[in-house]
Amino acid sequence: MIIFIPICFIMKIFMSQIEFLRHIPLVSLTVLILCTTTTVPIFATKGCDFPAIFNFGASNADTGGLAAAFQALPLPYGETYFHRSTGRFSDGRIILDFIAQSFGLPYLNSYLNSLGSNFTHGANFATAGSTIKIPNSIIPHGMFSPFSLTIQYIQFKDFIPKTKFIRNQGGIFATLTPKEDYFSKALYTFDIGQNDLTGGFFSNATIQQINATVPDIVNNFIENIKNIYNLGARSFWIHNTGPIGCLPLILANFPSAIKDSYGCAKQYNEVSQYFNFKLKEGLAQLRKDLPLAAITYVDIYSPKYSLFQNPKKYGFELPFVACCGYGGKYNYNIRNRCGETININGTKNVVGSCRNPSTRVVWDGTHYTEAANKIVFDQISTGAFTDPPIPLNMACQQKFP
Ligand SMILES: *[C@@H]1O[C@H](CO)[C@@H](O)[C@H](O)[C@H]1NC(C)=O
Ligand SMILES: *[C@@H]1O[C@H](CO)[C@@H](O)[C@H](O)[C@H]1NC(C)=O
Ligand SMILES: *[C@@H]1O[C@H](CO)[C@@H](O)[C@H](O)[C@H]1NC(C)=O
Ligand SMILES: *[C@@H]1O[C@H](CO)[C@@H](O)[C@H](O)[C@H]1NC(C)=O
Repeated sequence: MIIFIPICFIMKIFMSQIEFLRHIPLVSLTVLILCTTTTVPIFATKGCDFPAIFNFGASNADTGGLAAAFQALPLPYGETYFHRSTGRFSDGRIILDFIAQSFGLPYLNSYLNSLGSNFTHGANFATAGSTIKIPNSIIPHGMFSPFSLTIQYIQFKDFIPKTKFIRNQGGIFATLTPKEDYFSKALYTFDIGQNDLTGGFFSNATIQQINATVPDIVNNFIENIKNIYNLGARSFWIHNTGPIGCLPLILANFPSAIKDSYGCAKQYNEVSQYFNFKLKEGLAQLRKDLPLAAITYVDIYSPKYSLFQNPKKYGFELPFVACCGYGGKYNYNIRNRCGETININGTKNVVGSCRNPSTRVVWDGTHYTEAANKIVFDQISTGAFTDPPIPLNMACQQKFP
């Protein structure tokens, strides 16, 4: 069934594009029956009919933004699913792709990508390296994306009237922009915050000092959600942050960190947990302040952490070893980045990927493999990790009936 929905979707587009086919009733009818019978079980549960997705976030939700703004990512990024680098920080699809796919919507184009983008069913404002707070160290001199959450909000704010203007011009441009009523009906997804914390860890501040900045970071997050609501957004699907302390990025750079019983850096994870606690609390308050909104807090920390706790259960091995990387016991060194050409004892080598990325949790030391993303998606979409306990396809509702 999951396989059939994209096929139906593609067929529907195909049908609408090839005018003459519509006049052959037999073909139309066949497609109609096929699509209706295969999609009915999902839509019969009165799921939300989101016509578009607008996403805000950082690398875990980037579908090509940073690559469009600066420089393409090299292969093997993208090798598994797209067989080319798309600017996603994975070997294949990310959680956002699985979300779009589950609604039969196309994968989101990045707002920043001026080449061949189609925003009919949404846009992605996320870029890798984005922070919630405005960063003081920006690419190319520093570590972070200039497109922090407030900038992404401003871009979205401009996007609405611009797309309306373009739509009104008609012609091909009208087929590239969302319909006006899509903005209130869309799903608004968020995955951001990890870089605010890692940025702190790589500064001279102590873990306790970084921990103390969490409430301010979360307040800033909530303010932006409120501002996006004020532009007409109503359905929100908001990811918390993952177990940063389980990533090779932290394990390799802070080797003396105290580990928990599974091997994750304990205090670093505790800062993530505190961020998540404050976010959950802030969103509970926001639900009271914005009674028309459906706000779903999504715990991605727990399903991600369980991949490190219990890798075999999910078909994974070596959970702390980066698939694409080079150096040390975590196969990770910040100087030997995935896809880059490095010098090893005088010979040039491309930092490549492991033999079978589908057996690994961590892709490049900081981001997850497609296989891991898929498992996390499967778990969060049921509602088992959300507050309130609402499945993804019901995320336009405030309560699960
Ligand atoms: C953009 O996507 C929509 C929906 O998938 C489609 O109907 C439209 O034809 C596309 N526009 C172009 C120019 O391909
Ligand atoms: C950290 O402290 C060292 C020594 O005091 C200083 O040289 C360095 O610039 C500081 N780094 C940051 C990111 O503040
Ligand atoms: C972070 O701050 C909270 C609230 O003060 C505290 O409960 C928690 O233990 C702190 N965590 C760390 C790792 O310092
Ligand atoms: C590089 O040279 C060092 C020192 O001779 C050696 O220990 C190491 O195994 C070599 N690495 C590779 C990948 O050949």
